[in-house]
Amino acid sequence: MKQIALTGLKPTGPPHIGNYLGMLKPSLELTKDFQALYFIPDYHALTTVRDPKQLINLTYQATATWLALGLNPDKEIIYRQSDIPEVFELAWILSCFTAKGLLNRAHAYKAIVDDNIAAGREEDKNINVGLFTYPVLMAADILLFGTHVVPVGLDQQQHLEITRDVALTFNRNYGNVLTIPKAVIRKEVMTIPGIDGRKMSKSYNNVIPIFAPPNQVLKRVKRIVTDSKHPEDAKDPDECNIFAIYRHFADADAIAAKRHLYLEGGLAYGEMKKELFALLEATFSAKRERYNDLMDTPAELDKVLEKGAEKARDIAVPILAKVRKAVGV
Ligand code: TRP
Repeated sequence: MKQIALTGLKPTGPPHIGNYLGMLKPSLELTKDFQALYFIPDYHALTTVRDPKQLINLTYQATATWLALGLNPDKEIIYRQSDIPEVFELAWILSCFTAKGLLNRAHAYKAIVDDNIAAGREEDKNINVGLFTYPVLMAADILLFGTHVVPVGLDQQQHLEITRDVALTFNRNYGNVLTIPKAVIRKEVMTIPGIDGRKMSKSYNNVIPIFAPPNQVLKRVKRIVTDSKHPEDAKDPDECNIFAIYRHFADADAIAAKRHLYLEGGLAYGEMKKELFALLEATFSAKRERYNDLMDTPAELDKVLEKGAEKARDIAVPILAKVRKAVGV
């Protein structure tokens, strides 16, 4: 039996190339060597998404994203978190082994508290308990399947540390019941800049979406911020936001040639943007068609998710039984 790789793509918005490079692509590469369980954490999204139609649609988008990028539902297991009731039972059990102080220090929660304090508001203003216990639900997602590796972006590192901490606390009391998972974080894609040069993130509104119509992608690419150097000027490629994205899509020879052109002078940013756009099209245009086809057939997506949930529960049920037995319920 292969070891298990598990990760979740939160259904909160259209995927962008930061998600693709940081998490989706590395996750899909792991499917060669691991049994993959890649799921849609819709109950995590419920901490912020409050429109039911939107939550359903975003869940389809995330599902279609996995499939369009090449996830094979006959081999990999893809499912909706909310279809696995065992997750929530385990989440309660784990919450009894999670130090509240650990959650107080979780970045996502702490950032909102800090904002509230800075603005002179009551510190827990606008924070629901789901947001506070978010890391416990995530630990349940992972530990329920005996997961060995969790491919994630750097922003999830602390959540994985919390997961490991909770699992170790549990095991200290009951013996080696839970498998201790490891985060897999790709250092080289930690800092994909958005079009404004800050880290690419939906919350900065600086993303390049992967499945948007080509004219919209082009518009975003054209807006990538550069300095005001002329084509003939020598430039540092490692300071350029276009190059920082380009180097993840071009082949080694093309990257070396561009690097040379930057350093020697002769590179126009406008041209470089056109080339980046062409590369993005080459990478994503067929996948975009597949994505659009999938989004047009939600009944098919439901079928895939239901089958996936069945397979996932086959793994989860015995592990939860072991946990229940260990605690004495
Ligand atoms: N918290 C993750 C994110 O925001 C999504 C997620 C939920 C997840 N459960 C998970 C990721 C389990 C990996 C494993 O991106």
